[in-house]
Amino acid sequence: MISFENVAYQYPKARTTAINDVSFDLEEGSFHYLTGPSGAGKTTLFRMMYMDLKPTRGRLTVFNKNIAGLSADEIAILRRRMGIVFQDFRLLPHLTVEENVSLPLTLNGAMDKKQRDCVKEIIDWVGLSHKSRELPAFLSGGEKQRVAIARAVVNRPRLLIADEPTGNVDASMGRRIMHLFTELNKHGTTLLIATHDRSLITDCPAPSIVVENGHLSRLSSVA
Ligand SMILES: Nc1ncnc2c1ncn2[C@@H]1O[C@H](COP(=O)(O)OP(=O)(O)OP(=O)(O)O)[C@@H](O)[C@H]1O
Ligand SMILES: [Mg+2]
Repeated sequence: MISFENVAYQYPKARTTAINDVSFDLEEGSFHYLTGPSGAGKTTLFRMMYMDLKPTRGRLTVFNKNIAGLSADEIAILRRRMGIVFQDFRLLPHLTVEENVSLPLTLNGAMDKKQRDCVKEIIDWVGLSHKSRELPAFLSGGEKQRVAIARAVVNRPRLLIADEPTGNVDASMGRRIMHLFTELNKHGTTLLIATHDRSLITDCPAPSIVVENGHLSRLSSVA
């Protein structure tokens, strides 16, 4: 589904490489955590997976396509199969909670009743029905994060990548979100979650891809 082969990435003007000689395959239907210290390169790896950054060396294939030669339109089409939870949420400030969550479904035009019901159901699941007509500026950090999660899953993506998705919510909401993610995984969604939260991994065990200082240090099969 995603394959990194000896991939490196250096940010423009940076003196050191953020990612260096990273190789791994994400198999279709798999569930992994992505762990490692702050500054290790987790967000950089995610940005490459959603094709916001192209490797400066090596080969990256996403949905079996080498991303080096893809046009902006081809990238946009591939991204529609992905749910992405950004570390900094990236909600559109002029849209309400409901409109933000609906975005992946409205890209192709107006929603039908089933899709509208789906939006309501997912907003309810993350506990924000009472805020569905609010703008993001009126939400707490944890509420914004829950909107970002609802938006990422509403389309039942083939691939879900989530960058610290429970960093701003309490433990019980964290478990609820993990339940949602693992249910999607059981139905075939490939799942990769970057986290520092050991309790998440203990509660919901899955192998970890560990990145340190831009290198893959190990691929642990135990939680
Ligand atoms: N836009 C940028 N320009 C230059 N360097 C950057 C940029 N973004 C990140 N870096 C550098 O790349 C390295 C990896 O950063 P990255 O954000 O991928 O780490 P991370 O593992 O996601 O950290 P955290 O756990 O704090 O979110 C760091 O050394 C960082 O300083
Ligand atoms: Mg990060």
